[in-house]
Amino acid sequence: MKEALRRIVRDLRAALAAEAASPAAKAVLLPPAAPRRPPAALVLDRIAADVRACVRCGLCRSRRHAVPGEGPAETPLVLVGEAPGEDEDRLGRPFVGRAGELLTKMLAAIGVAREEVFIANVLKCRPPGNRDPAPDEVAQCRRYLEAQLEALRPLVVVTLGRVPTQSLLGTTQGILSLRGVPRTWRHAGGTCVLFPTLHPAYLLRNPAAKRDAWEDLKQVHALLREKTGSWPPPLAAPRAAPSPPPRG
Ligand code: URA
Repeated sequence: MKEALRRIVRDLRAALAAEAASPAAKAVLLPPAAPRRPPAALVLDRIAADVRACVRCGLCRSRRHAVPGEGPAETPLVLVGEAPGEDEDRLGRPFVGRAGELLTKMLAAIGVAREEVFIANVLKCRPPGNRDPAPDEVAQCRRYLEAQLEALRPLVVVTLGRVPTQSLLGTTQGILSLRGVPRTWRHAGGTCVLFPTLHPAYLLRNPAAKRDAWEDLKQVHALLREKTGSWPPPLAAPRAAPSPPPRG
Protein backbone atom coordinates (compact mmCIF):
# COMPACT_ATOMS: atom_id res chain seq x y z
CA MET A 1 0.00 0.00 0.00
CA LYS A 2 2.73 2.44 1.05
CA GLU A 3 4.68 1.64 -2.11
CA ALA A 4 1.60 2.24 -4.26
CA LEU A 5 1.04 5.65 -2.60
CA ARG A 6 4.69 6.62 -3.09
CA ARG A 7 4.41 5.72 -6.77
CA ILE A 8 1.26 7.85 -7.17
CA VAL A 9 2.98 10.85 -5.48
CA ARG A 10 6.11 10.39 -7.67
CA ASP A 11 4.02 10.19 -10.84
CA LEU A 12 1.97 13.19 -9.83
CA ARG A 13 5.11 15.23 -9.13
CA ALA A 14 6.60 14.27 -12.48
CA ALA A 15 3.36 15.15 -14.29
CA LEU A 16 3.18 18.53 -12.54
CA ALA A 17 6.83 19.32 -13.28
CA ALA A 18 6.34 18.43 -16.96
CA GLU A 19 3.24 20.61 -17.11
CA ALA A 20 4.98 23.56 -15.43
CA ALA A 21 7.87 23.30 -17.89
CA SER A 22 5.61 23.40 -20.95
CA PRO A 23 5.65 26.64 -22.97
CA ALA A 24 1.93 27.16 -22.33
CA ALA A 25 2.41 26.94 -18.55
CA LYS A 26 5.43 29.26 -18.65
CA ALA A 27 3.38 31.85 -20.49
CA VAL A 28 0.79 31.71 -17.70
CA LEU A 29 3.08 31.35 -14.67
CA LEU A 30 5.97 33.67 -15.55
CA PRO A 31 5.65 37.36 -16.30
CA PRO A 32 7.04 38.18 -19.76
CA ALA A 33 10.78 38.86 -19.54
CA ALA A 34 11.45 42.59 -19.76
CA PRO A 35 13.61 43.35 -22.79
CA ARG A 36 17.20 43.68 -21.56
CA ARG A 37 18.69 47.19 -21.85
CA PRO A 38 22.37 47.36 -22.64
CA PRO A 39 24.31 49.17 -19.87
CA ALA A 40 23.81 52.94 -20.17
CA ALA A 41 27.57 53.62 -20.13
CA LEU A 42 28.00 51.41 -23.20
CA VAL A 43 25.15 53.14 -25.03
CA LEU A 44 26.59 56.56 -24.18
CA ASP A 45 30.00 55.51 -25.51
CA ARG A 46 28.39 54.35 -28.77
CA ILE A 47 26.47 57.64 -29.11
CA ALA A 48 29.71 59.59 -28.50
CA ALA A 49 31.46 57.57 -31.24
CA ASP A 50 28.56 58.27 -33.63
CA VAL A 51 28.69 62.00 -32.80
CA ARG A 52 32.44 62.13 -33.47
CA ALA A 53 31.90 60.52 -36.87
CA CYS A 54 28.76 62.56 -37.70
CA VAL A 55 28.50 64.31 -41.08
CA ARG A 56 24.76 65.05 -40.95
CA CYS A 57 25.18 68.83 -41.28
CA GLY A 58 27.72 71.36 -42.49
CA LEU A 59 29.17 71.93 -39.01
CA CYS A 60 31.24 68.77 -39.44
CA ARG A 61 33.41 70.69 -41.92
CA SER A 62 34.30 73.54 -39.59
CA ARG A 63 34.57 71.68 -36.26
CA ARG A 64 37.89 70.76 -34.69
CA HIS A 65 36.27 68.36 -32.27
CA ALA A 66 32.71 67.24 -31.88
CA VAL A 67 31.50 67.54 -28.27
CA PRO A 68 29.18 64.63 -27.44
CA GLY A 69 28.83 65.49 -23.75
CA GLU A 70 30.23 63.92 -20.61
CA GLY A 71 29.34 62.61 -17.18
CA PRO A 72 28.35 59.44 -15.36
CA ALA A 73 25.73 57.13 -16.81
CA GLU A 74 23.99 56.84 -13.44
CA THR A 75 22.97 60.36 -12.52
CA PRO A 76 19.64 61.93 -11.63
CA LEU A 77 20.63 65.26 -13.21
CA VAL A 78 21.35 66.19 -16.84
CA LEU A 79 22.28 69.71 -17.91
CA VAL A 80 21.64 70.76 -21.51
CA GLY A 81 23.41 73.75 -23.02
CA GLU A 82 23.28 75.29 -26.47
CA ALA A 83 26.37 74.33 -28.45
CA PRO A 84 30.14 74.09 -28.02
CA GLY A 85 32.08 77.36 -28.10
CA GLU A 86 35.70 77.89 -29.06
CA ASP A 87 37.20 76.24 -25.96
CA GLU A 88 34.86 73.27 -26.17
CA ASP A 89 35.61 72.84 -29.89
CA ARG A 90 39.34 72.87 -29.12
CA LEU A 91 39.09 70.30 -26.31
CA GLY A 92 36.10 68.19 -27.33
CA ARG A 93 34.48 68.67 -23.90
CA PRO A 94 31.35 70.64 -22.90
CA PHE A 95 31.46 73.81 -20.79
CA VAL A 96 35.20 74.14 -20.31
CA GLY A 97 35.52 77.89 -20.98
CA ARG A 98 34.53 80.84 -18.77
CA ALA A 99 30.85 79.90 -18.87
CA GLY A 100 31.83 76.38 -17.84
CA GLU A 101 33.81 77.72 -14.88
CA LEU A 102 30.76 79.61 -13.70
CA LEU A 103 28.56 76.55 -14.27
CA THR A 104 30.88 74.47 -12.08
CA LYS A 105 30.60 77.11 -9.32
CA MET A 106 26.81 77.25 -9.66
CA LEU A 107 26.60 73.49 -9.21
CA ALA A 108 28.98 73.59 -6.25
CA ALA A 109 26.71 76.18 -4.60
CA ILE A 110 24.01 73.50 -4.33
CA GLY A 111 26.41 70.78 -3.26
CA VAL A 112 26.78 69.14 -6.67
CA ALA A 113 30.18 68.29 -8.17
CA ARG A 114 30.40 68.72 -11.92
CA GLU A 115 31.58 65.10 -12.20
CA GLU A 116 28.30 63.91 -10.69
CA VAL A 117 26.09 65.15 -13.53
CA PHE A 118 25.84 64.58 -17.26
CA ILE A 119 26.46 67.70 -19.35
CA ALA A 120 25.32 67.83 -22.96
CA ASN A 121 24.38 70.35 -25.61
CA VAL A 122 21.62 70.66 -28.21
CA LEU A 123 24.29 70.92 -30.92
CA LYS A 124 27.32 68.69 -30.70
CA CYS A 125 29.49 70.83 -33.01
CA ARG A 126 30.42 74.50 -32.80
CA PRO A 127 28.56 76.91 -35.08
CA PRO A 128 31.22 79.17 -36.66
CA GLY A 129 31.64 82.41 -34.70
CA ASN A 130 29.27 81.04 -32.05
CA ARG A 131 26.25 82.06 -34.13
CA ASP A 132 22.81 80.71 -33.15
CA PRO A 133 22.20 77.10 -34.18
CA ALA A 134 20.29 76.86 -37.49
CA PRO A 135 16.99 74.93 -37.42
CA ASP A 136 18.30 72.18 -39.75
CA GLU A 137 21.39 71.73 -37.53
CA VAL A 138 19.16 71.36 -34.47
CA ALA A 139 16.93 68.91 -36.33
CA GLN A 140 19.86 66.76 -37.48
CA CYS A 141 21.48 66.74 -34.03
CA ARG A 142 18.31 66.06 -32.05
CA ARG A 143 18.65 62.27 -32.33
CA TYR A 144 21.87 62.31 -30.29
CA LEU A 145 20.46 64.21 -27.33
CA GLU A 146 17.33 62.07 -27.43
CA ALA A 147 19.41 58.89 -27.43
CA GLN A 148 21.48 60.21 -24.52
CA LEU A 149 18.38 61.00 -22.49
CA GLU A 150 16.90 57.59 -23.30
CA ALA A 151 20.06 55.94 -21.94
CA LEU A 152 20.43 58.24 -18.92
CA ARG A 153 16.78 58.36 -17.82
CA PRO A 154 17.38 61.43 -15.64
CA LEU A 155 14.97 62.60 -12.97
CA VAL A 156 15.68 66.26 -13.69
CA VAL A 157 16.86 67.99 -16.88
CA VAL A 158 18.06 71.56 -16.46
CA THR A 159 18.11 73.56 -19.69
CA LEU A 160 20.63 76.38 -19.76
CA GLY A 161 19.32 79.42 -21.61
CA ARG A 162 17.00 80.11 -24.50
CA VAL A 163 18.15 77.67 -27.18
CA PRO A 164 17.91 74.35 -25.29
CA THR A 165 14.78 75.46 -23.43
CA GLN A 166 12.91 76.44 -26.59
CA SER A 167 14.22 73.44 -28.46
CA LEU A 168 13.20 70.83 -25.87
CA LEU A 169 9.88 72.44 -25.01
CA GLY A 170 9.06 73.20 -28.66
CA THR A 171 8.17 76.80 -27.95
CA THR A 172 9.24 80.27 -29.05
CA GLN A 173 8.44 81.81 -25.64
CA GLY A 174 11.29 83.87 -24.17
CA ILE A 175 13.67 82.38 -21.60
CA LEU A 176 12.97 85.13 -19.07
CA SER A 177 9.36 84.00 -18.78
CA LEU A 178 10.17 80.26 -19.01
CA ARG A 179 12.95 80.14 -16.41
CA GLY A 180 12.33 79.10 -12.86
CA VAL A 181 9.21 77.07 -13.65
CA PRO A 182 9.52 73.25 -13.52
CA ARG A 183 7.55 71.22 -16.05
CA THR A 184 6.79 67.54 -16.36
CA TRP A 185 8.43 66.52 -19.64
CA ARG A 186 8.52 63.34 -21.69
CA HIS A 187 11.66 62.17 -23.42
CA ALA A 188 12.54 58.93 -25.16
CA GLY A 189 13.49 57.27 -21.84
CA GLY A 190 10.44 58.29 -19.83
CA THR A 191 9.19 61.27 -17.87
CA CYS A 192 11.22 63.76 -15.89
CA VAL A 193 11.11 67.33 -14.64
CA LEU A 194 12.49 69.88 -17.09
CA PHE A 195 13.72 73.00 -15.36
CA PRO A 196 14.77 76.01 -17.47
CA THR A 197 17.30 78.46 -16.07
CA LEU A 198 19.64 81.14 -17.37
CA HIS A 199 22.76 80.32 -19.37
CA PRO A 200 26.02 80.97 -17.47
CA ALA A 201 27.33 83.01 -20.44
CA TYR A 202 24.28 85.29 -20.01
CA LEU A 203 25.08 85.59 -16.30
CA LEU A 204 28.64 86.64 -17.14
CA ARG A 205 27.23 89.45 -19.30
CA ASN A 206 24.44 90.30 -16.84
CA PRO A 207 25.74 89.75 -13.29
CA ALA A 208 22.56 91.24 -11.81
CA ALA A 209 20.68 88.17 -13.12
CA LYS A 210 22.72 85.92 -10.79
CA ARG A 211 20.11 86.59 -8.13
CA ASP A 212 17.44 84.92 -10.33
CA ALA A 213 19.83 82.08 -11.15
CA TRP A 214 20.37 81.45 -7.45
CA GLU A 215 16.61 81.23 -6.87
CA ASP A 216 16.46 78.70 -9.75
CA LEU A 217 19.34 76.68 -8.34
CA LYS A 218 17.67 76.43 -4.95
CA GLN A 219 14.58 75.03 -6.70
CA VAL A 220 16.70 72.51 -8.59
CA HIS A 221 18.30 71.47 -5.29
CA ALA A 222 14.87 70.99 -3.69
CA LEU A 223 13.58 69.05 -6.71
CA LEU A 224 16.55 66.70 -6.64
CA ARG A 225 16.20 66.08 -2.92
CA GLU A 226 12.48 65.45 -3.34
CA LYS A 227 13.10 62.97 -6.21
CA THR A 228 16.15 61.15 -4.80
CA GLY A 229 15.39 61.50 -1.10
CA SER A 230 19.01 62.19 -0.21
CA TRP A 231 21.02 63.99 -2.90
CA PRO A 232 22.49 66.58 -2.98
CA PRO A 233 23.23 67.19 0.72
CA PRO A 234 21.08 69.82 2.46
CA LEU A 235 22.06 73.43 1.80
CA ALA A 236 23.98 75.07 4.59
CA ALA A 237 21.72 77.37 6.60
CA PRO A 238 22.28 81.03 5.67
CA ARG A 239 24.75 82.52 8.06
CA ALA A 240 23.17 84.74 10.72
CA ALA A 241 24.09 88.39 10.57
CA PRO A 242 26.97 89.07 12.96
CA SER A 243 25.71 90.33 16.29
CA PRO A 244 26.55 93.94 17.05
CA PRO A 245 29.64 94.50 19.19
CA PRO A 246 28.92 94.85 22.92
CA ARG A 247 28.47 98.45 24.00
CA GLY A 248 30.43 100.29 26.56
N1 URA B 1 27.96 77.11 -23.97
C1 URA B 1 27.15 76.06 -24.22
O1 URA B 1 25.95 76.23 -24.39
N2 URA B 1 27.68 74.86 -24.25
C2 URA B 1 28.98 74.63 -24.03
O2 URA B 1 29.39 73.47 -24.05
C3 URA B 1 29.79 75.74 -23.76
C4 URA B 1 29.28 76.97 -23.73
